Amino acid sequence: MRRKLVVGNWKMNGSLAQLSELGPIAAAARKSPGVDVAICPPFTLIAPARARASGMPIGGQDCHGKESGAHTGCVSAAMLKDAGARLVIVGHSERRAEQCESDKAVRSKAEAALKQGLQTILCVGESDKEREAGRAVTVVAAQLQGSLPQTAEGEGELVIAYEPIWAIGTGKVATPDDVAEMHAAIRAELKQLLAHRGATVRILYGGSVKGDNAAELFAVPDVDGALVGGASLTAAQFVPIVEAAGRG
Ligand code: 13P
Repeated sequence: MRRKLVVGNWKMNGSLAQLSELGPIAAAARKSPGVDVAICPPFTLIAPARARASGMPIGGQDCHGKESGAHTGCVSAAMLKDAGARLVIVGHSERRAEQCESDKAVRSKAEAALKQGLQTILCVGESDKEREAGRAVTVVAAQLQGSLPQTAEGEGELVIAYEPIWAIGTGKVATPDDVAEMHAAIRAELKQLLAHRGATVRILYGGSVKGDNAAELFAVPDVDGALVGGASLTAAQFVPIVEAAGRG
C-alpha cells in the first residue's frame, strides 16, 4: 500500500515573512498521519523553513548532477542535504523549458539526488500540442525512458510527478479519465524499466490541484498524491488538499 504524498512547490515565490504559513501546514500534516507532506521553497528559504516546519520535510526545486565544482549559480544535492533538505524536485517542465534541461541532464540530477539519500521527485508531462496530436502517453513514456535514474545507488526514494504542461497554473485540470489513463501507463512503464520496484514508486499528479478538485483526483487509481504549485503558497489553500489526501 503506497502512502499518499502531498508536496508544495513554491516555485520562485515566498519570503521569510511567508514562512509563517508553514506552522498551520505542519499542524495539518500532523493531524493527517496517513499522509506525507512536504514543502519545497526557493533555495534561500530552505534553512529558515526547516526551523519553522516542526519536523515537516523541506526540499529543493532543483539540483546539479555533480557534487561540487565550477558551476556558477548552481546548487548540488549534497548542498541541499547539508542545508537540511530531505527531498528535491528534478525535471520540472518549467526548468526543462526555461533552462533547456534535457532528459539526460534530468537523469544525472536524479541520480545525484538519490545518491545523497534525498527523496527525488522526477517530473514528466506533455504539452497541449502533444496531447492534441494523441501523443501524450508516448511523450511521457519517452521522458521516463530518458530521465529515469539508471542506478539504484543510495537510500533516496524515487517519486514520479505527472504534470501535464497545459494544466500548470492554468486552472485547467486533467479529467479523472485522462489522469487514470496516464498514471496506468506510467505504472506499466515503471514496471518495465524497474521490474518489481516499479510497483512501489509513488506517482503524483500536478497541475491546478486545489482544495475543491483534490478528492476527485486522489480517488483515481495509481494517483498517490499531488505536486501543488499556486495552492501551496498559503495554508488556507493547501491544508484542504492535505485533508483530502488524509480522507482518500
Ligand atoms: P499549479 O498547482 O500552480 O498548477 O502548479 C503545478 C506545478 O507545476 C507544481 O510543480
